[in-house]
Amino acid sequence: MANLIGGVATSHIPAIGGAIHKGIQQEPYWKPFFDGFPPIRDWLNTRKPDVMVIFYNDHGLNFFLDKMPTFAVGAAPQYVNSDEGWGIPSLEPLRGELDLSWHIINSLIEKEFDVVSCQEMLVDHACSLPLKLLYPEGNYPVTVVPICINTVQFPLPKASRVFALGKAVGQAIADWDSSKTVAVLASGGLSHQLDGERAGFINKEFDLQFMDSLLTNPEWATQFSIHELVEKTGTQGVELLMWLAMRAALTTGAGAGVRKVHSNYHIPISNTATAVMALEAV
Ligand code: DHB
Ligand code: FE
Repeated sequence: MANLIGGVATSHIPAIGGAIHKGIQQEPYWKPFFDGFPPIRDWLNTRKPDVMVIFYNDHGLNFFLDKMPTFAVGAAPQYVNSDEGWGIPSLEPLRGELDLSWHIINSLIEKEFDVVSCQEMLVDHACSLPLKLLYPEGNYPVTVVPICINTVQFPLPKASRVFALGKAVGQAIADWDSSKTVAVLASGGLSHQLDGERAGFINKEFDLQFMDSLLTNPEWATQFSIHELVEKTGTQGVELLMWLAMRAALTTGAGAGVRKVHSNYHIPISNTATAVMALEAV
């Protein structure tokens, strides 16, 4: 059986790719954000996952508003990152873990999550940047299974449904017939709103409470409706559903508990409250 070691959650912002490209990670604007990552890289270098299952939201690169799956699972041999119009260089393709993709798809359909399977899937900054932040030297040592959750076009899946999905994915990983080591990755949030009257909205108090809840009461955020989450975190802050899916995937392990490896919270990068957190399954 596969070994699920824990998870990492991080914000994603296209401008991060620009900062990496320009090599300005140590400049005062960027340093407090990039400083969150070395302890997490150290942990990954110790635990050495072979595979990462990535909960993320596409922003219009692979799925546009005309065809918007609520949940889509990649089942491709590789996932190409291509230009999505932010003026940042494309990053290297991610290698797929096909056997786990189909195992997850089969397990989810069996549990009545009627996911879309994608044998071709472009991945945007939400998938490409977290890998680059965790493995800056490139040539990623992990294969991936991307799982896309719609946070772009209403109606969005409820937080409780996302939690249930994450839990089912965790169970599928745990009973995957493989000797490989797997980590779960979440990409999105925390609070931000990019447009409309509340553009620039950030809610530090809620973000910190949410991060804390992942340690103390993982289902805390499921009490909120999607509209309440948008009200509290912004129209794009609702991407924090990815963090919830990641945490839910870790409720299925041997002890079903987690230990915090490291976390960081910094306001703002671009319009976003940025955060990163690594949790080890114990
Ligand atoms: C920004 C944040 C996002 O989550 C995103 O997908 C694009 C841009 C931003 O703050 O600039
Ligand atoms: Fe986003």
